[in-house]
Amino acid sequence: MPCNLTTALLTLCEATENLKFVLFSSIVLNSLVYFAIFIGINGSLQNNSLKLKQFLAAILIFFFAKIGLSKLIDDINKSDIELVIQIWYQLNVVISGLCFVFAMPFCLKLLEKENSPEIAVQSVINFFQRSADYLAKYGAFSRCWVFHRLFIPVADWELAQQLLHSESHLETGHELMSDWLGEGVLMCQPEHWPQRHQQLAALSSPDNLLQLTKLFQQQAVQLCQQLEAYAATRQLFDVWQPVSGNVLDLMLATSCGMQPSEQYKQAFTDLIEIYRKRFLSIKSANRFTFWLASPLMRRRQQRLIRILNDENKQMLGKWRQQQLIESQLKSEGITIDRIEPASKLQHQTLLEVLLSGGKLSDTELCAELNTCNYLGYLLCSSTLCFTLVLIARHPAVQQRCLEELRNARSSEDWQLQRLPYLDAVLRESLRLQPPQLIVGRQLSQDFNYTHSLVGNGALPAGAEVYINLYELQRSEPQYGNQAHLFQPERFLAQPPQLLSFGLGPRSCPARELSLSLLKALLAPLLLQFELLPYGDAMRPNLRLALGSRNGFQLALQPREAIETKTID
Ligand code: HEM
Repeated sequence: MPCNLTTALLTLCEATENLKFVLFSSIVLNSLVYFAIFIGINGSLQNNSLKLKQFLAAILIFFFAKIGLSKLIDDINKSDIELVIQIWYQLNVVISGLCFVFAMPFCLKLLEKENSPEIAVQSVINFFQRSADYLAKYGAFSRCWVFHRLFIPVADWELAQQLLHSESHLETGHELMSDWLGEGVLMCQPEHWPQRHQQLAALSSPDNLLQLTKLFQQQAVQLCQQLEAYAATRQLFDVWQPVSGNVLDLMLATSCGMQPSEQYKQAFTDLIEIYRKRFLSIKSANRFTFWLASPLMRRRQQRLIRILNDENKQMLGKWRQQQLIESQLKSEGITIDRIEPASKLQHQTLLEVLLSGGKLSDTELCAELNTCNYLGYLLCSSTLCFTLVLIARHPAVQQRCLEELRNARSSEDWQLQRLPYLDAVLRESLRLQPPQLIVGRQLSQDFNYTHSLVGNGALPAGAEVYINLYELQRSEPQYGNQAHLFQPERFLAQPPQLLSFGLGPRSCPARELSLSLLKALLAPLLLQFELLPYGDAMRPNLRLALGSRNGFQLALQPREAIETKTID
């Protein structure tokens, strides 16, 4: 009897037509079963009972088809039965395995097609509609099992606040980014986390923030220069490109203090695009399925990470060399002031804060720089783009900002901190369009809560809780019946709570830094250009951070010459 595949294949060549038919039909059926399983997984992901029913019906049909096949086997000569079984098992395992590997990317592509009537999916594009439907159906606090994983989507204020303020539930779970940011603050060991978080917060100390604001204002001049060309034509354009390019420059100057190469910036933005594609995609959210389904993309991702880390390490090397020279000169009695170029930026960079704070390995330092560049680039760019478009579509808000800026500029000590209305505009924009719209917590132990409506209870250890800031910050009980409208005034008299930077111990350590950066870029832009109310309504989508599917359409025109004086 043949015991290996080669002998089995040879025997198959000599087998009867009937036998060949049984074997191949059975293999095809098995491949179809895999496809049905994908639809079933997808149905369970969406809690879509129709898809689950389709899956069960398909499995039933395949089951009866297999019974039909076994009837055919009965007709085969009894002496061949043992042979059939052996060949069937060996071939089936190999060919079905191959079908599984090669068909999976194809099946998943089909599944990801939006509006497919037969096979709908957990699509990123319709995230907002799905989450609204889900909330309407199951309420602000529900649960959803996907195999062994328990997901708890939350859009309930009481529960969200308690969880975010908890000192013992701090794991955020950013598995997707682990290849790139694995050793950084987002994913480091719990015992290292407090120190890392503090170091990042130190970047926003009042003195450093003052220096950083000067850096932000310098960059604002550059951004305005780039926008002049668009303003000259008064045509609609997507403001993401100029805004994100300048924000990236600022983040790199804030984190490393050095100007990285063009190759570095390109690798950075390419890598973000890869992660955008992977985000919420069934086939690549998990590292194993990503490796299996998209090996080429994975190779490219790893190459880009290497480019960034190689240059990060070069910068580290240069910084250390510079420190060595400075300490040698100091020991020889030469003061640093005499040798440093006058133009050196005065702020303390993240790299300096981290190196002065303790012993981190080069890998950890790189991960920390990457984490800040990644979060700062995506979240600040998204906020600034949304704010610009919202201001453009609300002329009364723009007018009030302008008046405040003109008054502030005419006073002797004009400071960005003293722009309460612009500040309210930014907060209102962050409320309606929180760039990080989901905050996650992985429960390593039970979470006990108290709730005014549902009473006391516990969320079980092992559950993954996802707090939906987008829905929370549009809730009417919290923000009134005009919660969905852009009304910056609500942040003036009695400011409501803002969750866009998170809450509690794990909230964003760069909150003040971000607000300063956004104000510093926005103020001169509003003074120099009038934002015109043209363009389509934004169509929010979720691609790592909150974005807009049709871009951030903006049109500008220059204000009179009197407005264009540089800001001190
Ligand atoms: C408008 C801009 C920003 C928004 C809306 C924002 C929002 C957030 C949110 C919601 C969190 C998660 C909080 C949680 O898990 O509870 C977070 C964490 C974090 N943010 Fe920001 N962020 C912004 C800008 C920045 C910038 C510019 C940096 C870097 C310089 C930064 C660095 C971080 C870091 C390192 C964490 C993780 C803190 C930790 O896990 O301990 N963020 N941010």
